[in-house]
Parts: sequence; C-alpha cells; structure tokens
Amino acid sequence: MFDIDKIRSDFPILGREVYGHPLVYLDSGATAQKPRCVTDTVRYLHDEMNANVHRGVHYLSETATELYEAARESVRKFIDAESSDQIIFTAGATASINAVAYAWGGTFIGAGDNVVISEMEHHSNLVPWQQVAFRKGASVRVLPFDDDGRLMTERLGELLDDRTKVVAVTQASNTLGTRPDLKPLIEAAHAVGAVVMVDGCQGVVHGGVSVRDLDCDFYAFSGHKLYAPTGIGVLYGKRDLLEAMPPFLFGGDMVDRVSFERTTFAPLPLKFEAGTANFIGAIALGEAIKYVTSFPEGAIAAHEERLLRYATERLETIDGLRIYGNMPGKSPIISFNIEGAHHYDVGMILDKLGIAIRTGQHCAEPVMTHYGVTGMCRASFAMYNTEAEIDALVAGVERAARMLR
Ligand code: ALA
Repeated sequence: MFDIDKIRSDFPILGREVYGHPLVYLDSGATAQKPRCVTDTVRYLHDEMNANVHRGVHYLSETATELYEAARESVRKFIDAESSDQIIFTAGATASINAVAYAWGGTFIGAGDNVVISEMEHHSNLVPWQQVAFRKGASVRVLPFDDDGRLMTERLGELLDDRTKVVAVTQASNTLGTRPDLKPLIEAAHAVGAVVMVDGCQGVVHGGVSVRDLDCDFYAFSGHKLYAPTGIGVLYGKRDLLEAMPPFLFGGDMVDRVSFERTTFAPLPLKFEAGTANFIGAIALGEAIKYVTSFPEGAIAAHEERLLRYATERLETIDGLRIYGNMPGKSPIISFNIEGAHHYDVGMILDKLGIAIRTGQHCAEPVMTHYGVTGMCRASFAMYNTEAEIDALVAGVERAARMLR
C-alpha cells in the first residue's frame, strides 16, 4: 500500500530542518532524495563487498560481479528491454546521450544530413546532437512546441526527409512537464530511416517505460533522479545499432584481444564500459528500482498526479502567477513565474522558509527563449511529497509575491 508516512521515514533527509524550518524538498526533478535501502546498499558494498568487477576469481570480485550483472538485469526488466546486454551502464544520461551522439552520430551522420531536435529538449539531448551536426556538416532542425507546451508533432512532415539521421526528443520535459506522444513520432522518424534518441530522465521516474513498446532506438536515463546515487546512468540501444556503433572510450574491460598491432573489442555491453565500472552505483540503482517497484503498479504516479493537480489548482489562484506548460497528462513539474518578481528572488525567499525549488533556465535555454524569460521557478514532486508541503509552497510563493511586487 502507499503509506506516505512510512515512505517519508524511508528517506532520512526529509526529517531535517533548513533555517529552522522543516525541509520541504520540491526539487526532485533535479535530483531525488535517497531511501535508506539505497544508502545502506552503498555502505554495505563499501564495507563488505568491495572488489573490482569482471577482473578477479576471488570471492569478493565474483560476488560484486554477480550483483553488478543482476543490477543490469533489473534495469532491463524495469525498462522492458529485450536483453540485458543492451543495457550499458554510464555515468548518467548526459554521458549516455553524448556516447550515442559522438560514437553513433560521428560515424553515421555526414555532410548534408540533418538532425531533428525538439524545442523542449534539455541541453543534454540538444547540444551533443548540435555539436556532432556542426562537426560533420549536417544541419539542425527544430520541432517546435506551442505556448501550452504541446510538441507540434504535426510539423514533423516538414522536417523529416531521407537525410534525417536522428530525432532527439524527451519522454517528459524537465521544464514544461509535457509528455509528447512519442509513438507516432517514432513511427514517422522510422519511416524516413531516422533513429530516435529518447531522453527518459524525467519520464522513467514517473511512470516507467517499455522501450520495446515505444520502439525507440536509444533511451537514456540517470540513476540519481530515480532515488539512486549520482554518477550512474543507463543507455539502452537496439542491438543492431549498438553493434554497429564503434566504442569511443578505450581501456580495460572493453577489449577482447590486444596487441601493439591491433585490438579487438568485447561484445555488448562491455564494449561501451571501459575502465572500472561504477558497480556500486549500478547495484544501488538496482536497489532503487527494487524500492520503487515494491509499490503497487501506478501507485506512485497516482500520488504524484494528485500532488500536481492540487499544486496547480492552488498556485493558479495567486495573482500574477503564470505556469508554463499546461498539457494534460504532464509529469509532476510546475514551472512558473510571478509577474514583477525575479525567479531567483522567489527561490531565495522560499529557501529561507526551508522550501527547495529550482530556479533559472533548467538547462533548457530554448524553452526560456520561447517564452521570452530569463528563467523560471520550478517545483517538482516525487513519491515522498505531501499536500501539506504544497500548502507550505503556496504560502511561501504568496509571501514572495507580496514582498517582491
Ligand atoms: N536535469 C536536471 C533538472 O531538470 C538537473 O533539474
């Protein structure tokens, strides 16, 4: 069952105070807090099971390797991938997307080709594609969104052609909350032979994914937004694409045979995991997945949806407050500004009340440009937030509005 008090007690940090106020943490879109089972796992691995993976015949190394590979299988199951060797552990979603842009894009994108990037992308699914396009002489095309935050997929027809190599799109916008209707977009991209890179960071946390059902070509997410530690992330790719993609980080564990004359590479997934793996992060990610999947299916998403609805209704009553992104089914994120008040000032007043929100450009400057603003405030909700915390947010925002206007 979904027992919010029990859940909150699983996250030690939620019990702390900030400036003498109980912490109200509404910045899980930036990074989620960690349940004790995850931090206990990290401590246990360091204290009792620390040894390099894939490199020893001794007990600790073999056990750490088994746990690491079990984590890979947990991720496979969680995102419904075909096979665990299509799950590459990386340092995070940014590393995953950069790997594909650099290694796959660097090989298969050429002069005269184009890449299509949605206007609502986080910089991580924008800049890597833009840079490879610049490098290779390809062009960048932008799939726009409208003022409600709806991705204008009907414009795809104008953008896609037989020189489109990649469509980069988010599962859920980190700023607008929009969850674009990805299936038709992916079908349209495939119809012209393009591959689709889906940024799953904000999507996988609030309702999961089936990469098989979506039929996306590449999918990336970070562990730390999914209640796991920082420094661990996932790249999923279709097998033929991963097989064709050359490795780009070279070193230990990713090789088959090495001589001074030539080197052959390990099969998937190790081909892309050079160097000592962040096995502790990966195993802790497996633990985080175990934690979130211990709740009845849909229970976390339903709770977050209730919070989103309640917060939206309450914030909308504040005079001069504008919410950016109003699409039905959006993820539990509210970006807003108060007329006449700077987002940083709002964030700082809230901070002094113990309320943590994100302020600034949210690593999505084109979204700011779209609305002609320098930044936004953003409250993002997770499984452990409560309506009482939203009441605190609303009271804080009302106070900020009174002080700043
Ligand atoms: N990508 C993270 C965010 O949206 C950091 O805040």
